Amino acid sequence: MKNKDIIPTKREKLMREGDFIVSKTDTRGIITYGNPIFIEFSGYTEQELLGSQHNIIRHPDMPRSAFKLAWSTIQSGKEFFAYVKNMSKDGGFYWVFTHITPDFGRSGEIVGYYSVRRCPKRSAIEKIEPVYQKMLAVEQSAGAKQAIDAGTQVLVDLLKSTGLSYEELVFSL
Ligand SMILES: Cc1cc2nc3c(=O)[nH]c(=O)nc-3n(C[C@H](O)[C@H](O)[C@H](O)COP(=O)(O)O)c2cc1C
Repeated sequence: MKNKDIIPTKREKLMREGDFIVSKTDTRGIITYGNPIFIEFSGYTEQELLGSQHNIIRHPDMPRSAFKLAWSTIQSGKEFFAYVKNMSKDGGFYWVFTHITPDFGRSGEIVGYYSVRRCPKRSAIEKIEPVYQKMLAVEQSAGAKQAIDAGTQVLVDLLKSTGLSYEELVFSL
């Protein structure tokens, strides 16, 4: 079953305090490792996850421009923090507070990525969800070619109005 064929439901699965959802990917975002809690929350088997693109758990409510920012940050060798809504195999969803870092080889080249997710603050989700909704709505009305730029602009405008960097915004939530 493809992620796009799954019908999202309103069933939420909550991370517990002390849970760490861990996954690793190669440089293209193909999953190479998932810890037992990752497997539990995703609803897929380990066999289904290993070798799949990480977008297997992408939720359609998440704006494309958020992932664009994630990829450009980690591909430039930096760490990335974000609140992310993910979708399980059964269509349910779960929010995470994620930290993604590049994994470097001996000569400093990026050899893959590593992600650890913790239980998010409910108050932060309440603040970021409308931002993502606005980014998504703007992306959808902009059309495929301009979608990412349009979604990104929502975030850029928000940062400008708050005077915060992206990372400061995330930690202010
Ligand atoms: C280490 C790592 C962890 C990721 N974790 C997630 C995740 O939890 N949820 C998610 O939707 N995308 C995650 N992504 C991003 C996906 O690779 C993908 O870009 C995203 O789901 C959007 O899908 P798309 O690029 O097909 O639009 C992760 C990427 C990396 C490198």
